[in-house]
Amino acid sequence: MSLRRRIPMLRWSFLRMAVGARNIFTTGQIGDGREAAARDFVLANARRGDIDDVLATIDRFAYEKSFLINVGDEKGALLDAAVRRADPRLVLELGTYCGYGALRLARAAPQARVFSVELAEANAEIARAIWEHAGVADRVTCVVGTIGDGGRTLDTLAGHGFGPGALDLLFLDHDKNAYLADLQSILDRGWLHRGSIVVADNVRLPGAPKYREFMRREQGRLFDTVEHKTHAEYQSLLPDLVLESVYLESEHLG
Ligand SMILES: C[S@@+](CC[C@H](N)C(=O)[O-])C[C@H]1O[C@@H](n2cnc3c(N)ncnc32)[C@H](O)[C@@H]1O
Repeated sequence: MSLRRRIPMLRWSFLRMAVGARNIFTTGQIGDGREAAARDFVLANARRGDIDDVLATIDRFAYEKSFLINVGDEKGALLDAAVRRADPRLVLELGTYCGYGALRLARAAPQARVFSVELAEANAEIARAIWEHAGVADRVTCVVGTIGDGGRTLDTLAGHGFGPGALDLLFLDHDKNAYLADLQSILDRGWLHRGSIVVADNVRLPGAPKYREFMRREQGRLFDTVEHKTHAEYQSLLPDLVLESVYLESEHLG
């Protein structure tokens, strides 16, 4: 592995991302057009209808052109394994970005319908174009909104077949401070069933300490959690944690 691949600080696009970090919170994008460039790169270079090639082309873009905040290839393999364990029919991702994570979910669960919730309409458009190119647009849907909007987005999902015990796998990869509250909202709706799996990215970097604390407290009660030690996306210097939690109950939290 080249030094530039291993050490993110040697890459201008990583440093540029640090400069644009505030933009991510307001617009969902880094601010230099790299997300649209990633879509254009995929449409120009990846074989149409070939999920593997689309994912590999996005990874290539993130390593060789501009760093992206996808779950990435290393943590993506952990996600794939969790999805296979859940053998889901219905999957929900929070935080779509360019659609890479949802594409991995769709590949690992070929029978599943995948929904992904994203705040930024511009990201939803990019993701949809990539899903269309990969040939999965018929079963991967982006809902523009946020779980914290007082029930509107949850109601939209309910209109798509979400209901008590229907959700087999939940992937948290959006605002790290919202992980716990949004999980709670989904638990309150009773959408998880015994054996549903919740995967959370970035629990160490940038970090979701309250979520981690909750899973530790609920170990063996509400959830059975494994903490996967790994690295932040697209480099091997900065450590990160992915939490995989199996739901042990099927009742609403009071
Ligand atoms: C780390 S990226 C998601 C990466 C994606 N899961 C993947 O692996 O390809 C985070 C995304 O979450 C979105 N986001 C941030 N806060 C959100 C919220 N409260 N609800 C929904 N989306 C949110 C951002 O706009 C951004 O696109």
